[in-house]
Amino acid sequence: MIYSKIVGTGSCLPEKVVTNEDLAMRMDTSDEWIRARTGIRQRHIADVSQTSSDLAVPASLQALAAAGMAPAEVDLIIVATSTPDHVFPSTACLLQARLGIKGCPAFDIQAVCTGFVYGLAVADKFIRSGQHKSALVVGAEVFSRILDWNDRSTAVLFGDGAGAVVLRADSRPGVMASALHADGSHADILSVPGNICRGGIAGSPFLQMDGQAVFKFAVKVLNGVAREALEQCALTTRDIDWLIPHQANVRIIDATAKRLGIDASKLVVTVDRHGNTSAASIPLALDLAVRDGRIQPGQRVMLIGVGGGVTWGAALVEI
Ligand code: ACO
Repeated sequence: MIYSKIVGTGSCLPEKVVTNEDLAMRMDTSDEWIRARTGIRQRHIADVSQTSSDLAVPASLQALAAAGMAPAEVDLIIVATSTPDHVFPSTACLLQARLGIKGCPAFDIQAVCTGFVYGLAVADKFIRSGQHKSALVVGAEVFSRILDWNDRSTAVLFGDGAGAVVLRADSRPGVMASALHADGSHADILSVPGNICRGGIAGSPFLQMDGQAVFKFAVKVLNGVAREALEQCALTTRDIDWLIPHQANVRIIDATAKRLGIDASKLVVTVDRHGNTSAASIPLALDLAVRDGRIQPGQRVMLIGVGGGVTWGAALVEI
């Protein structure tokens, strides 16, 4: 039996840190409001010249170094992003070129904040098929580009960053189970409804959100999809060592853990420092907890995401 195993993780955050106090100086908000409603204290914001691929390159190199692999050994690249460098070519192709490799398939996945879980599940299936021996899966975002910085209800929530993992074929799991879902009938609760049209932008280029609808939807589906992945392996929530939910809001994270009956001590939380980095949030949190020694080899980690689309998914991984 072929499985895919995470053999390296990496991350990259832009240097510039923007605190809640910094935001309060430019819009009608406060540290108290942001912290009480979201748990966010600060976020990293990319320089105007920095793109998703700029963040993806160092994150990928770090993951490859952790795996002890050269870029030339990668035979599949998937980048999850809703803020690609260009309409095309894909950010994955740009990353491939900047890693100095050629020939392997490289493509982007657009599932907003669930993008990394989608990418991991797809890469796992490629590796299990036996046709690919390794994969680089990256979540990379510059959400600061699609925020209306005059809209306090959305601008305070997001940050920029990239996280990466290297998967390699192995006889032991690995990715034990995954479950992916979407329901496009809820597309309007979280969207950037604009597009490029004849040299201009048709519609809005800014993120729009019905915060309360997203909140309720997220808590409901994250609980369900985590249990679905566990059922595939005949495991229960007691068998999870670490829960890494998409880092949108500490209240969504806490409510999800409570519904799953998972103790707060098993949660990896980065939203306080990173804000919501969309597809980058789960691999950023995974890398942090691997590097600080919390996540140990042999432990089971449940990754769960939800995002625009609406999309949601889970991957249960043995490290
Ligand atoms: N600072 C101060 N006041 C604010 C701010 C702000 N940044 N933003 C909104 N307010 C005000 C509103 O104007 C409103 O004022 P009013 O009562 O005078 O009209 C008041 O605060 C309450 O606004 P609500 O939108 O009802 O606040 P709510 O309690 O719903 O909190 C929040 C908003 C934090 C967005 C919440 O709905 C939430 O957490 N939703 C989940 C959405 C989320 O996390 N999205 C991230 C992207 S989605 C994803 O990643 C899956």
